[in-house]
Amino acid sequence: GSTDKVRLHFINRDGEKYSVAAKEGESLLEVVINHNINIDGFGACEGTLACSTCHLIFEKAAFQQLDEISDDELDMLDLAYGLTDTSRLGCQVCVKKWMDGLTVQVPTEVSDVRRELEVEKQN
Ligand code: FES
Repeated sequence: GSTDKVRLHFINRDGEKYSVAAKEGESLLEVVINHNINIDGFGACEGTLACSTCHLIFEKAAFQQLDEISDDELDMLDLAYGLTDTSRLGCQVCVKKWMDGLTVQVPTEVSDVRRELEVEKQN
């Protein structure tokens, strides 16, 4: 029933808010994809820890409750623009029950390594 769902809110770059009912265990990248949340360039590497376009900013209290960050995620996160103290990569964060009502912010700038490479290829 609806009690299995975890309400999550995404604030997009333009300030637009998307509210979705996510499933426990989905990654935040999967939530964005499954709910067709229109975040330009998000999740370019499909969760393979190769792009940092899934950068999301958390509320401090929530950030402290997230699972520990892996070295690989940390390395990739270092490449993200607009890094904050409460930044994580959405493809590495899974939805948990306690996240019900959580709001995450999409950073205004995104370092889309892959897109830059594509542009290079086209030129
Ligand atoms: Fe590329 Fe998360 S989707 S690092």
